[in-house]
Amino acid sequence: MIEVTGLPAARDLSPAQQVSLLSGGDFWRTRSLPAAGIGSCVLSDGPHGLRFQPSIGDNLGTSASEPATCFPTAVTMASTWDEALVAEVAGAVAVEALALGVDVVLGPGLNIKRHPLCGRNFEYFSEDPLVSGRLAAASVRGLQEWGVGACLKHFAVNNQEGHRFLVDAIVDERTLREIYLAGFEYAVKTAVPWTVMAAYNQVNGEYATDNRRLLTEILRSEWGFDGLVMSDWAATADRVAAVAAGMDLEMPSSQGLSDGEVLAAVGAGRLAAARVTASAQRVLDLVARSAKSGPRPEIPVDEHDALARRAAAEGTVLLANDGLLPLAGDLSVAVIGAFAEQPRYQGAGSSLVNPFRVSSALDEFRRRGVPVTFARGYDPKRSGPDAGLIAEAVAAARTADVAVVLVGLPAADEGEGFDRTHLRLPDQHDALVAAVAAANPRTVVALSNGAPVLMPWREAPAAILESYLGGQAAGAALVDVLYGDVEPGGRLAETFPASLGDVAADPYFPGEPHQVEYREGLFVGYRHHATAGVEPLFAFGHGLGYTTFAWDAVSVDRATVDAGEPVAVSLTVTNVGDRPGSDVVQVYLSDRSGVVLRPRRELAGFAKVRLGPGERETVTVSVPARAFAFYDVGAAGWRIPSGSFDIEVARSSVDVAETLTVQVVGGVDTAPEGPQSPGVAATDEQFARRLGRAVPRPRPVRPFTRQSSLAELGTTRIGRMLNAILWRIAPFDEETKADETTMRTYKRALDELPLRGAAIYSGGKLTWTRVDTLLDLLNGERRQAAVRLVTVLARTARRVRAKR
Ligand code: BGC
Repeated sequence: MIEVTGLPAARDLSPAQQVSLLSGGDFWRTRSLPAAGIGSCVLSDGPHGLRFQPSIGDNLGTSASEPATCFPTAVTMASTWDEALVAEVAGAVAVEALALGVDVVLGPGLNIKRHPLCGRNFEYFSEDPLVSGRLAAASVRGLQEWGVGACLKHFAVNNQEGHRFLVDAIVDERTLREIYLAGFEYAVKTAVPWTVMAAYNQVNGEYATDNRRLLTEILRSEWGFDGLVMSDWAATADRVAAVAAGMDLEMPSSQGLSDGEVLAAVGAGRLAAARVTASAQRVLDLVARSAKSGPRPEIPVDEHDALARRAAAEGTVLLANDGLLPLAGDLSVAVIGAFAEQPRYQGAGSSLVNPFRVSSALDEFRRRGVPVTFARGYDPKRSGPDAGLIAEAVAAARTADVAVVLVGLPAADEGEGFDRTHLRLPDQHDALVAAVAAANPRTVVALSNGAPVLMPWREAPAAILESYLGGQAAGAALVDVLYGDVEPGGRLAETFPASLGDVAADPYFPGEPHQVEYREGLFVGYRHHATAGVEPLFAFGHGLGYTTFAWDAVSVDRATVDAGEPVAVSLTVTNVGDRPGSDVVQVYLSDRSGVVLRPRRELAGFAKVRLGPGERETVTVSVPARAFAFYDVGAAGWRIPSGSFDIEVARSSVDVAETLTVQVVGGVDTAPEGPQSPGVAATDEQFARRLGRAVPRPRPVRPFTRQSSLAELGTTRIGRMLNAILWRIAPFDEETKADETTMRTYKRALDELPLRGAAIYSGGKLTWTRVDTLLDLLNGERRQAAVRLVTVLARTARRVRAKR
């Protein structure tokens, strides 16, 4: 724990003061106690730029925020596979945080992309825990090097947006450790984040905020985390349970709503006073860590824009190219698609940045003096094909040397708070690509979307570029890449499946409102494709470039490996083309020991290399001992099997260049006792075996509790009245009301909000007594409601008398 200078120690504060520190001061700040000399710490979203709101706070990105640089979102940054660049961008976000007076940036987000339809996948790195963990760690280091705190989120198993407040993620221990916690573990241990954010959902029957096993036993005791755990916004399920579990800070402020409950629990001996003191001390430590001296820096707006542009190009993945790219400078170009004029460059929700500037591809083409004709091709607000707009685009494509078609997902199709319902692009985008590519085979498709899509027209265009959501400079970066000023340096950090049926999690996603079962176990993304022999549309790790790399002299530093030792894989990479470029060497492990069932192929290490034409470099990829290990549930620890392992040096999860074999000695020889993974658990019996208990039944909707959602309550007359009141008092201005997408987001958010969340947000108006009385009424317990009211009245009368 850090030495606090100039601040009192928590133990010297009164119990009430200590408890008050454990909930925010307002929407974005920790509580200050000026009389005790305690200031506050300013938190702000995150992750790919700042969403700093000096006055009105919201967590849906609907109210104004200060201008900031909108860097590429995590999905684009992940495609760079470049830890140094991820750290550099995080460092630039830190500089903006310092300029705006922000102490902790709420990011990075590193939840695993369990399913390509999760609405928030654009904010996460990968389907693979190693990529997620390493890039998240780089991001943490990049922020914290500047004295700005990072917040790893959302801990844990928050892999869908639908029902995120209500759902209980049922996941077996081995899958939890190997897939869903491994990235957090890596980032916590290696980058030491100041803070971690507890997620909305439940994990195996307990809310993440109240989960002692996750927050204390695993995060602190096993991984050694000594920072602060805060709740996601209004996620705290039960304040007393949360404090007991090791969740230090409830956010945002609940205006003292539950302070009384916490104090009463301490008084009654149900909660250890030492627990409160420890959490209060962590809040003080965070405040101390956040203290700054000296003037705030200026934001180097142009420099950051240039960095955002470079990063967007580095994260752009060239999915296919028959040689048309890079474009020659003298060609006439038909620029097609409304996104060329109104770029899609970031996702909706709490990460929404108010960018300093936004570049469009169309402007950039024109700025370069390229002879362009522009056709909108579609109306971004409508999803049906518009024959007139498509005909206009086809005419433009016919007369130009080259057509560049910008399509993707409209903002309303993906965002925080909801999941996508299918993998397709809007029909009008598919119809446009098919028509334009038929009219001019020299067509380049440029995609802007936060997660995988299907491409029924895949064979038709000459080239396909995946820009994802590339931030404010995405438009300019696209044109840079098209002309080869910069190489598209990206490799997919996720699988593009050929159909939803090829996603192992699909039958269980998003589950029921109160329960989602992770029956696919370890078989997430390419782990499933590789094991089941399913061909993806585009594979994890795939990405082309404008130059060619030869790999030679692949070797491993030892043929026999003592269990617990790392292995170094080396090779010579030569740029045999005539342009500078970058390559990503991926090393996968394939456990042939047969000791325990494992995915056919698992990423064990990677390295990014940049070389000029003709240059060569010896690249060494370290495969840590942990990559050989599986989580042994029975023994509650990591075990390395003895036996044969293939080391696959690959360009993607389907393109293995060389396989070497090593023998591991001194590990375990047989599968230990306890529930090991028998693969995808299709039946209850298989899943129960893996869970080590019966598959639980989803929590019933009735009786209603503090955890019931407003939509659930809305099935009753009283609930409908409550919802109507909440809508009436919601602070919507006329502009917001006129914006259909925003209002839909609000509606969804309010529908799924649990009653206790409404209480937290109510700023003290909806007290627990009111909530519980309301619940009595909703559950038809009128007598109970009356008793509660009489008790409250009597207590109030006693207090009034005592004061007199
Ligand atoms: C999101 C968090 C975010 C917080 C504050 C929540 O809705 O899940 O990622 O940091 O709001 O805006």
